[in-house]
Amino acid sequence: MRRVAILGSTGSIGINTLDVIRAHPERFKVVALTANKQIDRLAEQCIEFNPTIAVVGDAAGASRLRTALQEKRIATQVLCGSESLVSAVTQSDCDTVMAAIVGAAGLVPALAAAKSGKRVLLANKEALVMSGDLFMQAMQSGGGELLPIDSEHNAIFQCLPQQFTKAPHDYLGVEELWLTASGGPFRDTAMSELSSITPDQACAHPNWVMGRKISVDSATMMNKGLEVIEAFWLFGLPLEKIKVLIHPQSVVHSMVLYRDGSVISQMGQPDMRTPIAYGLAWPERIHAGVGPLNLTQLAALSFAEPDLTRFPCLALAFSAANTGGTAPTILNAANEIAVAAFLDAGLPYLRIPEVVEKTLNHISSVSASSLELILDVDAKARHVASNIIRQMNH
Ligand SMILES: NC(=O)c1ccc[n+]([C@@H]2O[C@H](COP(=O)([O-])OP(=O)(O)OC[C@H]3O[C@@H](n4cnc5c(N)ncnc54)[C@H](OP(=O)(O)O)[C@@H]3O)[C@@H](O)[C@H]2O)c1
Repeated sequence: MRRVAILGSTGSIGINTLDVIRAHPERFKVVALTANKQIDRLAEQCIEFNPTIAVVGDAAGASRLRTALQEKRIATQVLCGSESLVSAVTQSDCDTVMAAIVGAAGLVPALAAAKSGKRVLLANKEALVMSGDLFMQAMQSGGGELLPIDSEHNAIFQCLPQQFTKAPHDYLGVEELWLTASGGPFRDTAMSELSSITPDQACAHPNWVMGRKISVDSATMMNKGLEVIEAFWLFGLPLEKIKVLIHPQSVVHSMVLYRDGSVISQMGQPDMRTPIAYGLAWPERIHAGVGPLNLTQLAALSFAEPDLTRFPCLALAFSAANTGGTAPTILNAANEIAVAAFLDAGLPYLRIPEVVEKTLNHISSVSASSLELILDVDAKARHVASNIIRQMNH
């Protein structure tokens, strides 16, 4: 029986994870759930799964949750605040952690899971983008297992040889990793129309149902840029061996090119329950609630190079990845601030890359040598990005 903690259980990945777990009560026990603001949804989840610990964002939310659980005689311990996210990992007796908080807020608890030798199911790509080297070292010293949940990285994990390690200069015949990208809702939109894009339009992804932040990142293709950095840390290949391909149908989730010319891909429906089930049960395979692909009903599978003029965020991410050090942290922080301003404060869609670029130009990258330094740079980049947005509004 795996004992699972879900960081971000009220989000899109969290809900899909509980959906897979619900179908396999003999295999998985939920021991910790965390949310930020969606107290009612978390209460429903606690009533159904009866975890040992539940964590919410603030004291008012905790008080509401306690009342809701007392009425149903649920004995879950309710905690609040960002420090308690670490307690959900360290004090819940879990052996598996689904890291599915969105953004930088997920970094510290994900690192705690890495250090403590758990099986880490990593959806929270921002954590790895910010702290790649530290995170991979923490996984190694903790001795746990890291299984990527992002569908592209999960696909690559499935396509690599089982004995794949990141031994320098020996990639067991692996030449390149090809990350696929749908191109989002504006792949073919006239460039002149991009200036008036609304948050609802940006969040209407053609193939995937996801949280709002990652949906905007998919529209700008910053998501794919973050995924290139994620792949670099997860699989240890040089950046120039990690390629991006536009694949509008989202059927091929990613591919590995081998030295002998073979290309191995993983295909399936665009449904996150497949990689989640794979990570939860690895190395076994379990039912995910996902139907099979019907290849005869697919008209065609097409692939194209991404257009970096249409998707400047992708170019910015490549550039930050090449700079290294804290540049990806700055990129990520500025993007989070710009996307939040687009979603909630009327920042025009086309200004998202502008904010990220100006923030990157404003702060020099240094070696990402400690968690404290990374959090410091993250805070500074958020401050700079917010000021840039304020100036744009004047
Ligand atoms: N959705 C996908 O299909 C998908 C695919 C691949 C990778 N990912 C990655 O998975 C992660 C989660 O994505 P998502 O789409 O599931 O996001 P989401 O639907 O927005 O859910 C985010 C979760 O994080 C919680 N949260 C937000 N801010 C927090 C904070 N400051 N402190 C603590 N918890 C906080 C939310 O709580 P409340 O809702 O209670 O406020 C919610 O449970 C992201 O890193 C994303 O890039 C997602």
